[in-house]
Amino acid sequence: MEQSIERYIKNLVRDVIGQTLGELQLQSDRQTYVIANWKMNKTLNETAEFFQNISSSQDVSVVICPPAQLLYPAHLFIKQSGKPIGLGGQNVHWTDKGAFTGETSARMLMDVGCEYVIIGHSERRQYSFEDDELVNKKVKQALKSGLTPIICIGETLGQKNAMQTEQVLSKQLFGALTDIDSSQFILAYEPVWAIGTGQSATAELAQETHAYIRSVLKQILGQKAENVSILYGGSANENNAAEYHAMPDIDGVLVGGASLDAKVFDAIINVFAKGEQNS
Ligand code: 13P
Repeated sequence: MEQSIERYIKNLVRDVIGQTLGELQLQSDRQTYVIANWKMNKTLNETAEFFQNISSSQDVSVVICPPAQLLYPAHLFIKQSGKPIGLGGQNVHWTDKGAFTGETSARMLMDVGCEYVIIGHSERRQYSFEDDELVNKKVKQALKSGLTPIICIGETLGQKNAMQTEQVLSKQLFGALTDIDSSQFILAYEPVWAIGTGQSATAELAQETHAYIRSVLKQILGQKAENVSILYGGSANENNAAEYHAMPDIDGVLVGGASLDAKVFDAIINVFAKGEQNS
């Protein structure tokens, strides 16, 4: 919690300075994240076991995003462990409360210890038909409530093959960030063709795409875009993590399958905790 207040104040100061000094180059001091998206996996016992075996690091922000019904026990396990591990939801509703069966509000997420929430994951865009407008409403709701949104964007294989990657990402970014002036969010570039397929993007391709994403963010947010951590997601694992970590515009990873095993996820945390990122 203390870490998140410190980060909030740092970001706020950067936002204010960025606005005042306009185009002046500010020294970037982006946070590095290793985030687990468990999707629809794990029981209560498996969650307890995971937190017994996971380590943490001062050099990297570790965040676990379990399914909704495991959030509160996960919060208690984290507290018990005394480790600086953050907790995030996998989805949030865009309104405060009401007759929305099966949905979770931002207040409910915060009530059980969440500081983060994943928004616009490609699986939700695909199965729950979330579009950019809905993603934008959810991002606004998260920011208003004090949750840090982890906004996911990415192109499909068809769009990649049709050379539409930049066009797709730009549309998703402008859509998700409509009428938003804050840089207090995390962005995850998750090419849909790399998710759960074992076909991860090469570190070079991911770096090139992250640099493009940052250039679009600059059009939207100006110099504040330098503060936004951009994570790579899509078959990231303990073997390819070091290649991503070596890239200047890759500020961490959002991990699905490889986050389910505490030892494997630990290995990824250790990669990002070691040494300085190239820049
Ligand atoms: P995988 O790591 O299983 O490819 O999933 C990535 C992802 O969707 C994280 O949000």
